[in-house]
Amino acid sequence: QDVYAVIGNPIAHSKSPQIHHLFAQQTGQNMKYGLLFSEVEEFEKTVQEFFAAGGKGLNVTVPFKNKAFAMCDELTSYAKAAGVVNILWMENGKLFGDNSDGLGLVRDLMDESDSLKGRSVLILGAGGAVQGVILPFIKAEVASIVIVNRTFEKALELVNRFEQEAAALGVHLGALESHWIENLDEPFDIVINGTSTGLTSNSPLTNIQANHLAMICETKDKSVLSYDMVYGKTTVFMQQMQDHGFVVKDGLGMLVEQAAVAFQVWRKLPDLAKLDTKIVLKTL
Ligand code: ATR
Repeated sequence: QDVYAVIGNPIAHSKSPQIHHLFAQQTGQNMKYGLLFSEVEEFEKTVQEFFAAGGKGLNVTVPFKNKAFAMCDELTSYAKAAGVVNILWMENGKLFGDNSDGLGLVRDLMDESDSLKGRSVLILGAGGAVQGVILPFIKAEVASIVIVNRTFEKALELVNRFEQEAAALGVHLGALESHWIENLDEPFDIVINGTSTGLTSNSPLTNIQANHLAMICETKDKSVLSYDMVYGKTTVFMQQMQDHGFVVKDGLGMLVEQAAVAFQVWRKLPDLAKLDTKIVLKTL
């Protein structure tokens, strides 16, 4: 039986085993998927032992996505662009790494509409979680992506990094200092919290900024979607957006969608059509 696992610290809370068991059921695949805890300083050793024992693939979660990236012999274009890896597998004795977090987010957002083409996206944050979503948004041919971060230089660095790909597909990519939110006069279709504030009781938006965003986005109509990449709780950001009447989603759908891509890569499925992510999301 092929063995897979999700590696992290902590890991007990992970919903990945449940998600992958459901995908295995849907596609009639005989596989096992478990939880793998690792001490922070023993990550590389734990990964090596897992594959040496015949393990087929790993999902990687906090805080190991950077370390996983550094270990790989081969990286997909999404992994290279993201600088972090959430999927590992062995092929011909080489460790491969991919990143499906961004694609997972884009696929989850697409549930709301057939395509993200022409949409305008505001992304709050420029850390590890956000790096991985820029390329998938560009490939989805959104109209514009504006990255806002407390530390402006990090937002600018992301813009510089993805400038060429964005230009090639006609996507406007820009960076903005946090306080400039109050000067924005263009409404957005999608507002995403990609900061780590969801894990705390903070929000990347001050009340004034949240009010201002609500004011400008109101001119779009109430279908403006706000999204927090964190799941399992209503974050302060989500609450702020809800208070202004926006449609709010948490990152659970993104988790299921990134898992679907991992499952497809590992099991070499020709496409994702056989995986019913909506049913899986309902059962979580
Ligand atoms: P992750 O892997 O979760 O993205 P990270 O790489 O440490 O973690 O990035 C955290 C992100 O959340 C950053 O964009 C950070 O802003 P800075 O680059 O200015 O540090 C953002 N962030 C964290 N706490 C924040 C807060 N209280 N207000 C606004 N942004 C915050």
